[in-house]
Amino acid sequence: MAAQDPIGLFDSGVGGLSIMKEIRRLLPHEDLIYVGDSKFCPYGEKTSTAIQERCRMITKFLLAKSVKLIVVACNSASVAALEQLRAEFSVPFVGVEPAVKQAASFTKKKRIGVLATGLTLSGARFTSLVEKFAGGLTVVNQACLGLVEQVERGAINGPETEAMLRRYLQPLEEKGVDVVVLGCTHYPFLRPLVEKMVQPGVQVIDTGAPVARQTQRVLTQATLINPKTQAGKEWFYTSGDPSVVGPVIEKLWGSHGEGVQQLPAAFLT
Ligand code: DGL
Repeated sequence: MAAQDPIGLFDSGVGGLSIMKEIRRLLPHEDLIYVGDSKFCPYGEKTSTAIQERCRMITKFLLAKSVKLIVVACNSASVAALEQLRAEFSVPFVGVEPAVKQAASFTKKKRIGVLATGLTLSGARFTSLVEKFAGGLTVVNQACLGLVEQVERGAINGPETEAMLRRYLQPLEEKGVDVVVLGCTHYPFLRPLVEKMVQPGVQVIDTGAPVARQTQRVLTQATLINPKTQAGKEWFYTSGDPSVVGPVIEKLWGSHGEGVQQLPAAFLT
């Protein structure tokens, strides 16, 4: 493992690009390899065992590309597989979790809302996060079926996505939350829409920046920060159809970096 090696990131689809944006902002010289498992998306509706198997395959793929650290840029995958990945592989992993801790420190009304997948909200990891940081607060959890698929299609605005969001934000508004946590890495792409729809004064937060800082910390401690001075590059891999996923990546990331390629055949069944 060397400082010049790339960082690997993966998600059930394109959502992890929201985490990658923050990493790129903080670590401009790192090379980044992104894997989006779009064919298998959404993870939130799969069993933990099935998600673990996909995560193991993706980890092996990234290790074959000599990554020095892997960011599990997916809340559902972090819930289902992070512990097992850490037990099985020696590469450092950085996982993600909904920004409950930050929300608890921001709320004045002592009421926060969390938008996430059902899998994230029902996991023991989320329960202990709430117990640890939000005990004594009202926490309104809202599973958002269908939102991940909207982002996968690149439908980050428009009437259908807006109608879904309106439905999911309503219970949070009824409970008077003053902080909304985007607890799925796909949702930061919907932030402009969410901010337009919540009441004035309601804060909308996600975990991209803290995850980027944690990535920087882990690399610094291991003296693995890339010393090069040129801008880092990005490579994208998908288990979906690159001719479909490629344009969505371009829309969400702003370019296709060094290209969007399909993962090997073993990932496509
Ligand atoms: N981006 C993933 C997450 O943060 C979406 C999960 C899914 O595919 O259900 O949870």
